Amino acid sequence: MAAYRTVPEFPDDFAFGVAAAAYQIEGAVAEGGRGRSIWDEFCAVPGAIARGETGEIAVDHYHRYRDDVRLMRDLGIDSYRLSVSWSRIQPDGSGAVNAAGLDFYDRLVDELCSAGISPAVTLFHWDLPQALQDGGGWLNRETSFRLAEYTAIVGERLGDRVGMWMPLNEPVVHTLYGHALGVHAPGLSLGFGALQAAHHQLLGHGLSVQALRAVGCGNIGIASNHAPVHPASDAEADSLAADIYDHIVNWTFADPILLGKYPAAELSALLTGPIDDDLAVIAQPLDWFGINYYEPTRISAPQAGEGTAGVLEVDLPPGMPFAPVPFEGVETTDFGWPIVPDGLREILTIFRDRFGSALPPIYITESGCSFHDPDPDSGGRVRDERRIAYHADHLVAVREAMDAGVDVRGYFVWSILDNFEWAAGYRERFGLVHVDYRTLKRTPKDSYHWLRNVLAARRETQVR
Ligand code: FCB
Repeated sequence: MAAYRTVPEFPDDFAFGVAAAAYQIEGAVAEGGRGRSIWDEFCAVPGAIARGETGEIAVDHYHRYRDDVRLMRDLGIDSYRLSVSWSRIQPDGSGAVNAAGLDFYDRLVDELCSAGISPAVTLFHWDLPQALQDGGGWLNRETSFRLAEYTAIVGERLGDRVGMWMPLNEPVVHTLYGHALGVHAPGLSLGFGALQAAHHQLLGHGLSVQALRAVGCGNIGIASNHAPVHPASDAEADSLAADIYDHIVNWTFADPILLGKYPAAELSALLTGPIDDDLAVIAQPLDWFGINYYEPTRISAPQAGEGTAGVLEVDLPPGMPFAPVPFEGVETTDFGWPIVPDGLREILTIFRDRFGSALPPIYITESGCSFHDPDPDSGGRVRDERRIAYHADHLVAVREAMDAGVDVRGYFVWSILDNFEWAAGYRERFGLVHVDYRTLKRTPKDSYHWLRNVLAARRETQVR
């Protein structure tokens, strides 16, 4: 008897997709005229990435994209969320366009369309061209304008075939891990000084939405990481700490976009530049808002001597007004992330309540789990029941949120293939398809077959 739940029914136009990102899968970092990105540089820093791994080869999607699209077609998904590598399009981050880079995405998009899969394109999934980093990266306001310039180039070329656009992926994670804590590229440890990089990403988002519309592209949103924040206890100090954390990780990123303001004056006071003018640009109306959900956070007031290791991927510097603490008695993925499907229902209803009529339809632009799956057995099977249960439970949570009045239009599984999980390297496997990193052979896992059956059954009820 299967230990997982039945996937509930969703409306016919609810989209099922899979997601991935350029640096995590493409490889071929020195091919096709691609320039260097901050992740190439960061991977070269000794100790930055587990086991010294890099995305140089990754899963070689750059060369094997036809095989990968075939896997997606056979899976039966409606949409594939990919990211474009800025360094392939503009090797120096601005100015001259590299035709070979644009051609690659043109071929990929064509391949998807002929497989009946609608491309959903992220412009910036954390891989800033190194040349822009050398000029200050996201701490330099100019980078926002460069993002819009690059976005327009891609929009013009692919706009006739792309179904969904999102300028940014998870500005919160790029800000905190890349600029505040130094564990992702570009490796800066600026603490609260990182907020300026958040602001410029958000400005880049607004400018890019304008740029996309100017070249005739529509159906524009964002893929933003959100999760409920639970206080560790009823104590006032814990609630206050949780509230501060919630403001930083959730509302600093959603409020400017959906409400045109920062959630607290204390936060915007840390920023420099024409903030009010920028907010007017950031708050471009969106066609949809994408939520990437993985795990809720549990927060307590800081306790003297209490470490945070094992909760985030890194210890917080001393002096923070909050401390993440583990959930008790909650099962985790092999990455150590608590498995709380109801957190997805909860964050969706929090969005409904907080933003009301300012909230456009929602897509779950990422949901997934890492398990250290074994190699295929002698029969070629990879048994990953826990991943099946994970997605089944999270789809139930989405359905519950919809029943509670949240307008959710789709669910993207992170990820189609095992891939390069940033600072954690290749050990964390999120894929529906197993990759043997020695041979690069792809083997669909049980979760792939499960989802294929779910989608096939869905199509059957649709034609009836
Ligand atoms: C998200 C990222 C994505 C992937 C998953 C596991 O934060 O957007 O690239 O690493 O986590």
